Amino acid sequence: LPEPDAVAQEAADVHALLPRPVAESDKYRRGVLGVAAGSDLFTGAAVLAVGGALRAGAGMVRYAGTSAPVTQVRAHWPEAVVTLLDAPSIEHVGRVQAWVLGPGLGTGDWAHELAAAVLASDVPVLVDADGLTLVARDRDLLRRDAPVLLTPHAGELSRLMGVGRDAIEAARLEHARDAAGELGVTVLLKGSTTVVADGAGPARVNTTGTSWLAAGGTGDVLSGVAGALLAQGLGCFDAASCAAYLHGLAGRLAAAGAPLAAADVAEAVPAAIRAVAGRR
Ligand code: APR
Ligand code: MG
Repeated sequence: LPEPDAVAQEAADVHALLPRPVAESDKYRRGVLGVAAGSDLFTGAAVLAVGGALRAGAGMVRYAGTSAPVTQVRAHWPEAVVTLLDAPSIEHVGRVQAWVLGPGLGTGDWAHELAAAVLASDVPVLVDADGLTLVARDRDLLRRDAPVLLTPHAGELSRLMGVGRDAIEAARLEHARDAAGELGVTVLLKGSTTVVADGAGPARVNTTGTSWLAAGGTGDVLSGVAGALLAQGLGCFDAASCAAYLHGLAGRLAAAGAPLAAADVAEAVPAAIRAVAGRR
């Protein structure tokens, strides 16, 4: 772990980057995030991604999906505005400032069409989980002008780049950076430490996490947290770095030396934000 001074400096850096509401703020200007995640089979991913986003300060979250995840998102998060999709299109969703695409979305034709629609928008898109599978199969999905943030774990990056998982694990920083350069995106590579890289300049490494985060669904929460920061106007590199930091710290606070469930991590994000602000 880094020295205590470095830890304090990192917290101050994150604090300085985090958006805060001002007197003139309203929910739209604070940042509206679209979430295209979850499916009739995987409803939990949608609930967790929306939860991460709400706790990370999105002014509003617009969830778009099919009936089962819509029902679950509504039940867990009355704060979210939902659109029940009868076609894989986002034309009825309303304006958003960024999208989270992929957790639990499935990888069939419907998911592919929805991914194409989201990526055809002109706002930043975070692609995770099943979204990464779709992109690995059809890299043309990534041909767009607006920014892209990919959030793979080593297995997902392995599939995306056609590089062995062991090779990635042996040189995570280099592979994250290579992928970012080759694809023209920002890459957040998950694991016990998290690497954030874009094509240019030095990468960042986050070590705030805890091995208690190795639990299903914590990645979906991270997607929501990073998506909320994108919607609030941070660039991909800063949004990914701050999200990794806050998610890791939230995991630490939620676990406190005992098991956590992914929903607990979302719940603890405000405490992590208070901690970087020096308030408890
Ligand atoms: N130490 C610290 N952090 C960890 C550790 C660890 N040992 N293990 C995992 N984490 C963190 C990661 O950095 C990441 O933020 O927990 C999160 C796990 O995210 P994912 O790997 O995306 O896992 P998740 O999506 O929640 O659950 C399993 O992975 O293989 C896919 O499709 C599968 O959706 C499924 C998912
Ligand atoms: Mg995942």
